[in-house]
Amino acid sequence: MSSRGLKQAHFNLFIHGVGHHSAAWRARDSHAERLRTVEYYTELAQIAERGKLDAIFFADGHSNSITAAEDGPLWHLEPLTLLSAISRETERIGLVSTVSATFYTPFHAARLLASLDWISEGRVGWNVVTSMFDAEAQNHGLEKMPEHAVRYGRAEEFVDVVLRLWESWPDEAILIDREQDPDGGPGRYVDGTQLTELNHSGEHFSVRGPLNVPRPPQGHPVLFQAGASEQGRDLAARRAEAIYAVAYDLHAGREYRSDMRQRITAAGRAPDSVAIMPGLVTYVGSTMEEAQAKQRALDELLPVENSLRQLSVFIGQDASGWDVDARVPELPALKDFTGPKGRYATVLRIIETEQPTVRQLLGRLAAGGGHCTMVGTPESIASEIELWLDEGGADGFNLMPPSLPYGISNFVDHVVPELQRRGRFRTEYEDSTLRGHLGLDIPGPSPAETKP
Ligand SMILES: Cc1cc2nc3c(=O)[nH]c(=O)nc-3n(C[C@H](O)[C@H](O)[C@H](O)COP(=O)(O)O)c2cc1C
Repeated sequence: MSSRGLKQAHFNLFIHGVGHHSAAWRARDSHAERLRTVEYYTELAQIAERGKLDAIFFADGHSNSITAAEDGPLWHLEPLTLLSAISRETERIGLVSTVSATFYTPFHAARLLASLDWISEGRVGWNVVTSMFDAEAQNHGLEKMPEHAVRYGRAEEFVDVVLRLWESWPDEAILIDREQDPDGGPGRYVDGTQLTELNHSGEHFSVRGPLNVPRPPQGHPVLFQAGASEQGRDLAARRAEAIYAVAYDLHAGREYRSDMRQRITAAGRAPDSVAIMPGLVTYVGSTMEEAQAKQRALDELLPVENSLRQLSVFIGQDASGWDVDARVPELPALKDFTGPKGRYATVLRIIETEQPTVRQLLGRLAAGGGHCTMVGTPESIASEIELWLDEGGADGFNLMPPSLPYGISNFVDHVVPELQRRGRFRTEYEDSTLRGHLGLDIPGPSPAETKP
Protein backbone atom coordinates (compact mmCIF):
# COMPACT_ATOMS: atom_id res chain seq x y z
CA MET A 1 0.00 0.00 0.00
CA SER A 2 1.13 3.56 -0.67
CA SER A 3 0.90 6.41 1.83
CA ARG A 4 -2.35 7.27 0.00
CA GLY A 5 -3.68 3.81 0.89
CA LEU A 6 -3.52 2.61 -2.71
CA LYS A 7 -2.39 -0.85 -3.68
CA GLN A 8 1.04 -0.69 -5.34
CA ALA A 9 1.99 -2.55 -8.51
CA HIS A 10 5.01 -4.78 -9.03
CA PHE A 11 6.47 -4.96 -12.53
CA ASN A 12 8.79 -7.43 -14.05
CA LEU A 13 10.17 -7.28 -17.62
CA PHE A 14 10.09 -10.67 -19.33
CA ILE A 15 12.87 -10.39 -21.93
CA HIS A 16 12.32 -12.60 -24.95
CA GLY A 17 14.32 -12.06 -28.15
CA VAL A 18 13.28 -8.82 -29.86
CA GLY A 19 9.80 -9.05 -28.39
CA HIS A 20 7.04 -11.52 -27.57
CA HIS A 21 5.33 -11.09 -30.96
CA SER A 22 6.70 -13.93 -33.06
CA ALA A 23 7.06 -11.66 -36.13
CA ALA A 24 8.78 -8.78 -34.29
CA TRP A 25 12.17 -9.78 -35.63
CA ARG A 26 10.99 -9.11 -39.21
CA ALA A 27 10.35 -5.39 -38.59
CA ARG A 28 12.83 -3.27 -40.54
CA ASP A 29 14.04 -1.55 -37.39
CA SER A 30 14.20 -4.69 -35.21
CA HIS A 31 17.38 -5.36 -33.25
CA ALA A 32 17.62 -8.99 -34.43
CA GLU A 33 21.28 -8.56 -35.37
CA ARG A 34 22.10 -7.73 -31.74
CA LEU A 35 20.66 -10.84 -30.09
CA ARG A 36 24.11 -12.34 -29.59
CA THR A 37 25.48 -9.23 -27.89
CA VAL A 38 25.46 -8.55 -24.17
CA GLU A 39 24.97 -4.83 -24.92
CA TYR A 40 21.45 -5.42 -26.26
CA TYR A 41 20.22 -7.16 -23.10
CA THR A 42 22.07 -4.69 -20.87
CA GLU A 43 20.25 -1.82 -22.59
CA LEU A 44 16.90 -3.51 -21.94
CA ALA A 45 17.80 -4.01 -18.28
CA GLN A 46 18.85 -0.38 -18.01
CA ILE A 47 15.55 0.81 -19.52
CA ALA A 48 13.68 -1.37 -17.01
CA GLU A 49 15.83 0.04 -14.21
CA ARG A 50 15.13 3.58 -15.39
CA GLY A 51 11.45 2.70 -14.92
CA LYS A 52 12.17 1.37 -11.37
CA LEU A 53 10.80 -2.06 -12.28
CA ASP A 54 11.23 -4.85 -9.74
CA ALA A 55 13.10 -7.23 -12.01
CA ILE A 56 13.98 -8.50 -15.44
CA PHE A 57 13.32 -12.17 -16.20
CA PHE A 58 14.75 -14.67 -18.68
CA ALA A 59 12.91 -17.91 -19.37
CA ASP A 60 15.00 -20.91 -20.39
CA GLY A 61 14.76 -24.05 -22.46
CA HIS A 62 17.18 -26.88 -23.21
CA SER A 63 16.61 -27.60 -26.88
CA ASN A 64 16.72 -26.07 -30.30
CA SER A 65 14.86 -27.20 -33.40
CA ILE A 66 15.89 -26.55 -36.95
CA THR A 67 12.41 -25.44 -38.07
CA ALA A 68 11.88 -23.25 -35.00
CA ALA A 69 15.32 -21.70 -35.51
CA GLU A 70 14.34 -20.90 -39.10
CA ASP A 71 11.09 -19.25 -38.03
CA GLY A 72 12.56 -16.68 -35.65
CA PRO A 73 14.67 -16.04 -32.57
CA LEU A 74 14.05 -18.22 -29.57
CA TRP A 75 17.19 -18.79 -27.52
CA HIS A 76 20.56 -17.14 -27.81
CA LEU A 77 22.58 -16.66 -24.64
CA GLU A 78 22.36 -18.77 -21.49
CA PRO A 79 20.52 -16.66 -18.88
CA LEU A 80 22.65 -17.06 -15.73
CA THR A 81 25.79 -16.20 -17.67
CA LEU A 82 24.03 -13.25 -19.25
CA LEU A 83 22.60 -11.99 -15.94
CA SER A 84 26.06 -12.13 -14.44
CA ALA A 85 27.27 -9.66 -17.07
CA ILE A 86 24.12 -7.50 -16.79
CA SER A 87 24.54 -7.30 -13.02
CA ARG A 88 27.79 -5.38 -13.53
CA GLU A 89 26.02 -2.69 -15.61
CA THR A 90 22.95 -2.21 -13.38
CA GLU A 91 22.57 -1.34 -9.72
CA ARG A 92 19.13 -2.01 -8.34
CA ILE A 93 16.96 -4.06 -10.66
CA GLY A 94 16.24 -7.69 -9.74
CA LEU A 95 17.62 -10.43 -12.00
CA VAL A 96 15.43 -13.52 -12.39
CA SER A 97 16.28 -16.64 -14.35
CA THR A 98 14.57 -19.94 -14.94
CA VAL A 99 16.49 -22.93 -13.65
CA SER A 100 15.05 -26.34 -14.45
CA ALA A 101 14.68 -28.84 -11.62
CA THR A 102 14.56 -31.59 -14.24
CA PHE A 103 17.94 -30.95 -15.85
CA TYR A 104 20.12 -29.33 -13.20
CA THR A 105 21.28 -30.92 -9.98
CA PRO A 106 20.47 -29.10 -6.73
CA PHE A 107 24.17 -28.54 -6.09
CA HIS A 108 24.72 -26.87 -9.50
CA ALA A 109 21.62 -24.69 -9.06
CA ALA A 110 22.42 -23.67 -5.49
CA ARG A 111 26.00 -22.84 -6.39
CA LEU A 112 25.22 -20.84 -9.56
CA LEU A 113 22.38 -18.85 -7.98
CA ALA A 114 24.31 -18.16 -4.77
CA SER A 115 27.30 -16.95 -6.79
CA LEU A 116 25.08 -14.68 -8.88
CA ASP A 117 23.45 -13.35 -5.72
CA TRP A 118 26.90 -12.38 -4.42
CA ILE A 119 27.97 -10.92 -7.78
CA SER A 120 24.78 -8.83 -8.03
CA GLU A 121 24.75 -7.96 -4.30
CA GLY A 122 21.40 -9.56 -3.55
CA ARG A 123 19.30 -9.14 -6.67
CA VAL A 124 18.68 -12.72 -7.82
CA GLY A 125 15.43 -14.57 -8.34
CA TRP A 126 14.97 -18.18 -9.45
CA ASN A 127 11.98 -19.34 -11.49
CA VAL A 128 11.79 -23.05 -10.77
CA VAL A 129 10.33 -25.06 -13.67
CA THR A 130 10.04 -28.73 -14.46
CA SER A 131 10.54 -28.24 -18.26
CA MET A 132 8.23 -29.49 -20.97
CA PHE A 133 9.59 -31.03 -24.13
CA ASP A 134 10.99 -34.43 -25.06
CA ALA A 135 13.53 -32.62 -27.26
CA GLU A 136 14.97 -31.10 -24.08
CA ALA A 137 15.15 -34.50 -22.37
CA GLN A 138 16.95 -35.86 -25.44
CA ASN A 139 19.76 -33.35 -24.89
CA HIS A 140 20.29 -34.76 -21.41
CA GLY A 141 20.55 -38.47 -22.06
CA LEU A 142 16.84 -39.27 -21.65
CA GLU A 143 14.51 -40.68 -24.30
CA LYS A 144 11.60 -38.53 -23.25
CA MET A 145 10.41 -36.25 -20.49
CA PRO A 146 9.77 -37.98 -17.16
CA GLU A 147 6.05 -38.02 -16.29
CA HIS A 148 4.56 -34.78 -14.98
CA ALA A 149 4.09 -36.18 -11.43
CA VAL A 150 7.66 -37.50 -11.35
CA ARG A 151 9.00 -34.12 -12.49
CA TYR A 152 7.10 -32.35 -9.73
CA GLY A 153 8.22 -34.91 -7.12
CA ARG A 154 11.79 -34.21 -8.18
CA ALA A 155 11.17 -30.45 -8.10
CA GLU A 156 9.85 -30.62 -4.52
CA GLU A 157 12.97 -32.44 -3.35
CA PHE A 158 15.16 -30.20 -5.52
CA VAL A 159 13.87 -26.98 -3.92
CA ASP A 160 14.19 -28.44 -0.44
CA VAL A 161 17.83 -29.44 -1.00
CA VAL A 162 18.75 -26.12 -2.65
CA LEU A 163 17.35 -24.18 0.34
CA ARG A 164 19.30 -26.37 2.75
CA LEU A 165 22.49 -25.99 0.72
CA TRP A 166 22.11 -22.19 0.98
CA GLU A 167 22.02 -22.61 4.76
CA SER A 168 24.98 -24.97 4.92
CA TRP A 169 27.72 -22.34 5.07
CA PRO A 170 26.52 -19.33 7.11
CA ASP A 171 28.34 -16.12 6.39
CA GLU A 172 29.08 -15.62 10.09
CA ALA A 173 31.27 -18.71 9.96
CA ILE A 174 33.89 -16.74 8.04
CA LEU A 175 36.34 -15.50 10.69
CA ILE A 176 39.44 -14.54 8.68
CA ASP A 177 41.40 -14.66 11.92
CA ARG A 178 44.93 -14.10 10.65
CA GLU A 179 46.54 -14.08 14.08
CA GLN A 180 48.64 -16.97 15.16
CA ASP A 181 47.43 -18.21 18.52
CA PRO A 182 50.04 -18.21 21.35
CA ASP A 183 50.91 -21.83 20.64
CA GLY A 184 51.82 -20.94 17.05
CA GLY A 185 48.62 -22.25 15.41
CA PRO A 186 47.84 -21.55 11.77
CA GLY A 187 45.14 -18.84 12.17
CA ARG A 188 41.54 -19.63 11.47
CA TYR A 189 39.71 -18.81 8.25
CA VAL A 190 36.33 -20.38 8.96
CA ASP A 191 34.63 -21.70 12.08
CA GLY A 192 33.98 -25.19 10.81
CA THR A 193 31.53 -25.96 13.60
CA GLN A 194 29.02 -23.67 11.86
CA LEU A 195 29.10 -25.52 8.52
CA THR A 196 26.63 -28.35 7.91
CA GLU A 197 26.92 -31.52 5.93
CA LEU A 198 23.45 -32.30 4.62
CA ASN A 199 24.09 -35.97 3.95
CA HIS A 200 20.80 -35.88 2.08
CA SER A 201 19.64 -39.13 0.61
CA GLY A 202 16.23 -38.87 -1.03
CA GLU A 203 14.21 -40.42 -3.83
CA HIS A 204 15.91 -38.32 -6.51
CA PHE A 205 19.16 -36.94 -5.07
CA SER A 206 22.06 -37.76 -2.80
CA VAL A 207 23.83 -34.61 -1.70
CA ARG A 208 26.54 -34.43 0.88
CA GLY A 209 27.17 -30.67 1.24
CA PRO A 210 28.05 -28.19 2.54
CA LEU A 211 27.80 -25.82 -0.43
CA ASN A 212 31.11 -24.30 -1.53
CA VAL A 213 29.62 -20.78 -1.69
CA PRO A 214 28.74 -18.93 1.55
CA ARG A 215 25.07 -18.15 2.32
CA PRO A 216 23.95 -15.62 -0.32
CA PRO A 217 23.28 -11.96 0.59
CA GLN A 218 19.51 -12.42 0.33
CA GLY A 219 19.69 -15.55 2.46
CA HIS A 220 17.78 -17.29 -0.29
CA PRO A 221 17.51 -15.87 -3.82
CA VAL A 222 13.78 -15.18 -4.36
CA LEU A 223 11.85 -18.25 -5.49
CA PHE A 224 9.43 -17.73 -8.41
CA GLN A 225 7.10 -20.35 -9.87
CA ALA A 226 4.70 -20.42 -12.81
CA GLY A 227 2.93 -23.78 -12.64
CA ALA A 228 -0.66 -24.12 -13.77
CA SER A 229 -1.50 -27.76 -12.89
CA GLU A 230 -2.56 -28.98 -9.45
CA GLN A 231 1.01 -30.03 -8.60
CA GLY A 232 2.40 -26.79 -10.02
CA ARG A 233 0.01 -24.70 -7.95
CA ASP A 234 0.73 -26.71 -4.81
CA LEU A 235 4.47 -26.33 -5.22
CA ALA A 236 3.97 -22.58 -5.67
CA ALA A 237 1.70 -22.43 -2.62
CA ARG A 238 4.28 -24.13 -0.42
CA ARG A 239 7.43 -22.52 -1.73
CA ALA A 240 7.03 -19.61 -4.18
CA GLU A 241 7.69 -16.09 -2.96
CA ALA A 242 6.36 -14.61 -6.23
CA ILE A 243 4.28 -16.19 -8.98
CA TYR A 244 4.14 -15.70 -12.75
CA ALA A 245 0.67 -16.42 -14.06
CA VAL A 246 -1.33 -16.60 -17.28
CA ALA A 247 -4.65 -14.74 -17.21
CA TYR A 248 -6.46 -13.74 -20.35
CA ASP A 249 -8.73 -11.21 -18.64
CA LEU A 250 -9.62 -9.82 -15.22
CA HIS A 251 -12.07 -12.64 -14.58
CA ALA A 252 -9.39 -15.28 -15.18
CA GLY A 253 -6.90 -13.27 -13.12
CA ARG A 254 -9.25 -13.12 -10.14
CA GLU A 255 -10.04 -16.80 -10.37
CA TYR A 256 -6.36 -17.81 -10.45
CA ARG A 257 -5.27 -15.35 -7.76
CA SER A 258 -8.03 -16.32 -5.37
CA ASP A 259 -7.29 -20.03 -5.87
CA MET A 260 -3.59 -19.43 -5.21
CA ARG A 261 -4.27 -17.31 -2.14
CA GLN A 262 -6.40 -20.10 -0.69
CA ARG A 263 -3.69 -22.65 -1.34
CA ILE A 264 -1.00 -20.37 0.15
CA THR A 265 -3.13 -19.93 3.28
CA ALA A 266 -3.72 -23.68 3.50
CA ALA A 267 0.06 -24.15 3.34
CA GLY A 268 0.35 -21.99 6.49
CA ARG A 269 1.78 -18.95 4.75
CA ALA A 270 0.62 -15.33 4.44
CA PRO A 271 -0.94 -14.79 0.99
CA ASP A 272 -0.20 -11.06 1.01
CA SER A 273 3.51 -11.83 0.99
CA VAL A 274 3.38 -13.58 -2.40
CA ALA A 275 3.04 -11.27 -5.42
CA ILE A 276 1.02 -12.83 -8.23
CA MET A 277 2.00 -11.41 -11.60
CA PRO A 278 0.11 -12.37 -14.76
CA GLY A 279 1.74 -11.75 -18.13
CA LEU A 280 0.80 -8.49 -19.83
CA VAL A 281 1.20 -7.59 -23.51
CA THR A 282 0.81 -3.85 -24.16
CA TYR A 283 0.54 -1.72 -27.29
CA VAL A 284 0.89 1.89 -26.12
CA GLY A 285 0.14 4.93 -28.32
CA SER A 286 -0.60 8.61 -27.75
CA THR A 287 -4.08 7.84 -29.11
CA MET A 288 -6.03 4.59 -29.31
CA GLU A 289 -5.67 4.73 -33.13
CA GLU A 290 -1.88 4.96 -32.84
CA ALA A 291 -1.78 2.00 -30.44
CA GLN A 292 -3.97 -0.07 -32.77
CA ALA A 293 -1.79 0.89 -35.72
CA LYS A 294 1.28 -0.46 -33.86
CA GLN A 295 -0.52 -3.73 -33.25
CA ARG A 296 -1.64 -3.93 -36.89
CA ALA A 297 1.87 -3.22 -38.17
CA LEU A 298 3.28 -6.18 -36.25
CA ASP A 299 0.39 -8.48 -37.18
CA GLU A 300 0.97 -7.70 -40.85
CA LEU A 301 4.49 -9.10 -40.57
CA LEU A 302 3.15 -12.54 -39.64
CA PRO A 303 3.85 -15.17 -42.28
CA VAL A 304 0.22 -16.06 -43.01
CA GLU A 305 0.73 -19.58 -44.31
CA ASN A 306 2.78 -20.72 -41.29
CA SER A 307 0.44 -19.03 -38.84
CA LEU A 308 -2.64 -20.64 -40.40
CA ARG A 309 -0.89 -24.01 -40.23
CA GLN A 310 -0.26 -23.48 -36.52
CA LEU A 311 -3.84 -22.32 -35.97
CA SER A 312 -5.08 -25.48 -37.70
CA VAL A 313 -3.22 -27.52 -35.06
CA PHE A 314 -4.73 -25.46 -32.21
CA ILE A 315 -8.31 -25.81 -33.48
CA GLY A 316 -8.13 -29.31 -34.90
CA GLN A 317 -9.32 -28.35 -38.40
CA ASP A 318 -7.79 -27.08 -41.62
CA ALA A 319 -7.68 -23.26 -41.60
CA SER A 320 -5.27 -22.93 -44.55
CA GLY A 321 -7.96 -21.62 -46.94
CA TRP A 322 -9.39 -19.01 -44.55
CA ASP A 323 -9.60 -15.37 -45.71
CA VAL A 324 -7.32 -13.53 -43.27
CA ASP A 325 -9.29 -10.28 -43.51
CA ALA A 326 -12.68 -11.87 -42.81
CA ARG A 327 -14.12 -12.62 -39.37
CA VAL A 328 -13.18 -15.98 -37.85
CA PRO A 329 -15.73 -18.65 -38.85
CA GLU A 330 -17.81 -20.24 -36.09
CA LEU A 331 -15.97 -22.99 -34.19
CA PRO A 332 -17.29 -25.98 -32.20
CA ALA A 333 -17.91 -25.42 -28.48
CA LEU A 334 -15.17 -26.39 -26.01
CA LYS A 335 -17.08 -29.48 -24.84
CA ASP A 336 -17.16 -30.85 -28.40
CA PHE A 337 -13.44 -30.35 -28.97
CA THR A 338 -11.30 -33.45 -28.48
CA GLY A 339 -7.76 -31.97 -28.78
CA PRO A 340 -5.74 -30.09 -26.11
CA LYS A 341 -8.34 -27.86 -24.45
CA GLY A 342 -6.17 -25.11 -22.90
CA ARG A 343 -5.14 -23.41 -26.11
CA TYR A 344 -8.50 -24.07 -27.77
CA ALA A 345 -10.26 -22.36 -24.86
CA THR A 346 -7.98 -19.35 -25.38
CA VAL A 347 -8.91 -19.19 -29.07
CA LEU A 348 -12.63 -19.33 -28.22
CA ARG A 349 -12.21 -16.66 -25.54
CA ILE A 350 -10.46 -14.27 -27.97
CA ILE A 351 -13.18 -14.81 -30.60
CA GLU A 352 -15.95 -14.33 -28.06
CA THR A 353 -14.59 -11.13 -26.51
CA GLU A 354 -12.95 -9.43 -29.48
CA GLN A 355 -14.74 -10.74 -32.63
CA PRO A 356 -11.42 -10.53 -34.48
CA THR A 357 -10.61 -11.02 -38.14
CA VAL A 358 -8.51 -14.11 -38.83
CA ARG A 359 -5.40 -11.93 -39.07
CA GLN A 360 -6.17 -10.27 -35.73
CA LEU A 361 -6.65 -13.67 -34.13
CA LEU A 362 -3.31 -14.85 -35.52
CA GLY A 363 -1.72 -11.67 -34.14
CA ARG A 364 -3.18 -12.19 -30.67
CA LEU A 365 -1.93 -15.76 -30.61
CA ALA A 366 1.48 -14.68 -31.93
CA ALA A 367 2.00 -12.17 -29.11
CA GLY A 368 1.58 -13.73 -25.71
CA GLY A 369 -1.18 -16.21 -26.64
CA GLY A 370 -3.42 -16.57 -23.62
CA HIS A 371 -1.92 -13.62 -21.72
CA CYS A 372 -3.80 -10.38 -21.15
CA THR A 373 -3.36 -7.74 -23.88
CA MET A 374 -3.97 -4.03 -23.33
CA VAL A 375 -4.09 -1.68 -26.31
CA GLY A 376 -4.45 2.05 -25.69
CA THR A 377 -3.06 5.27 -24.31
CA PRO A 378 -0.91 5.54 -21.17
CA GLU A 379 -3.99 6.78 -19.33
CA SER A 380 -6.31 3.98 -20.48
CA ILE A 381 -3.71 1.30 -19.78
CA ALA A 382 -2.94 2.77 -16.33
CA SER A 383 -6.69 2.65 -15.58
CA GLU A 384 -6.92 -1.00 -16.65
CA ILE A 385 -3.92 -1.85 -14.47
CA GLU A 386 -5.51 -0.08 -11.50
CA LEU A 387 -8.69 -2.07 -12.04
CA TRP A 388 -6.77 -5.37 -11.97
CA LEU A 389 -5.00 -4.31 -8.74
CA ASP A 390 -8.18 -3.15 -7.02
CA GLU A 391 -10.41 -6.01 -8.18
CA GLY A 392 -8.02 -8.74 -6.99
CA GLY A 393 -6.80 -9.83 -10.43
CA ALA A 394 -3.10 -9.18 -9.84
CA ASP A 395 -0.43 -7.81 -7.53
CA GLY A 396 1.57 -6.65 -10.52
CA PHE A 397 2.45 -7.80 -14.03
CA ASN A 398 5.08 -9.69 -15.91
CA LEU A 399 5.49 -7.34 -18.89
CA MET A 400 5.74 -9.10 -22.23
CA PRO A 401 6.29 -6.30 -24.77
CA PRO A 402 5.40 -7.43 -28.30
CA SER A 403 8.52 -5.72 -29.58
CA LEU A 404 11.77 -4.86 -27.82
CA PRO A 405 13.30 -2.44 -27.03
CA TYR A 406 10.46 -0.14 -28.23
CA GLY A 407 7.71 -1.85 -26.23
CA ILE A 408 9.50 -1.49 -22.91
CA SER A 409 10.78 2.06 -23.48
CA ASN A 410 7.22 3.12 -24.34
CA PHE A 411 5.88 1.50 -21.20
CA VAL A 412 8.61 2.97 -19.00
CA ASP A 413 8.40 6.47 -20.47
CA HIS A 414 4.62 6.78 -20.65
CA VAL A 415 2.69 4.21 -18.58
CA VAL A 416 5.04 4.16 -15.56
CA PRO A 417 4.92 7.98 -15.02
CA GLU A 418 1.13 7.84 -15.26
CA LEU A 419 1.01 5.10 -12.60
CA GLN A 420 3.47 7.07 -10.46
CA ARG A 421 1.25 10.17 -10.70
CA ARG A 422 -1.66 8.02 -9.54
CA GLY A 423 0.36 6.76 -6.55
CA ARG A 424 0.47 3.18 -7.88
CA PHE A 425 4.17 2.67 -8.47
CA ARG A 426 7.41 3.63 -6.74
CA THR A 427 9.19 6.74 -7.98
CA GLU A 428 12.52 5.59 -6.52
CA TYR A 429 13.90 2.26 -5.43
CA GLU A 430 13.62 2.02 -1.68
CA ASP A 431 15.85 -1.00 -1.41
CA SER A 432 18.84 -2.55 -3.08
CA THR A 433 17.75 -6.21 -3.13
CA LEU A 434 15.04 -8.04 -5.06
CA ARG A 435 13.60 -9.17 -1.71
CA GLY A 436 13.36 -5.54 -0.74
CA HIS A 437 11.53 -4.57 -3.98
CA LEU A 438 9.02 -7.36 -3.38
CA GLY A 439 8.56 -6.50 0.31
CA LEU A 440 10.03 -9.85 1.41
CA ASP A 441 12.16 -10.39 4.49
CA ILE A 442 15.54 -12.07 4.42
CA PRO A 443 14.76 -15.55 5.75
CA GLY A 444 16.50 -16.81 8.83
CA PRO A 445 17.52 -20.46 8.78
CA SER A 446 14.56 -22.60 9.83
CA PRO A 447 15.08 -24.59 13.07
CA ALA A 448 15.22 -27.85 11.14
CA GLU A 449 18.04 -26.51 9.05
CA THR A 450 20.31 -25.30 11.86
CA LYS A 451 22.74 -27.56 13.60
CA PRO A 452 21.78 -28.85 17.02
C1 LIG B 1 5.61 -16.47 -17.44
C2 LIG B 1 5.95 -17.92 -17.54
C3 LIG B 1 7.29 -18.28 -17.72
C4 LIG B 1 7.65 -19.62 -17.85
N1 LIG B 1 8.97 -19.93 -18.05
C5 LIG B 1 9.31 -21.20 -18.30
C6 LIG B 1 10.66 -21.52 -18.64
O1 LIG B 1 11.52 -20.66 -18.70
N2 LIG B 1 10.97 -22.82 -18.90
C7 LIG B 1 10.03 -23.81 -18.83
O2 LIG B 1 10.37 -24.96 -19.08
N3 LIG B 1 8.75 -23.53 -18.50
C8 LIG B 1 8.37 -22.25 -18.25
N4 LIG B 1 7.07 -21.95 -17.95
C9 LIG B 1 6.09 -23.06 -17.84
C10 LIG B 1 5.68 -23.31 -16.39
O3 LIG B 1 6.79 -23.54 -15.56
C11 LIG B 1 4.72 -24.52 -16.29
O4 LIG B 1 5.37 -25.69 -16.64
C12 LIG B 1 3.51 -24.36 -17.18
O5 LIG B 1 2.85 -23.18 -16.80
C13 LIG B 1 2.56 -25.55 -17.11
O6 LIG B 1 2.16 -25.81 -15.80
P1 LIG B 1 2.45 -27.20 -15.08
O7 LIG B 1 3.93 -27.42 -15.11
O8 LIG B 1 1.94 -27.01 -13.69
O9 LIG B 1 1.71 -28.26 -15.86
C14 LIG B 1 6.67 -20.63 -17.81
C15 LIG B 1 5.32 -20.26 -17.63
C16 LIG B 1 4.96 -18.94 -17.50
C17 LIG B 1 3.52 -18.55 -17.32
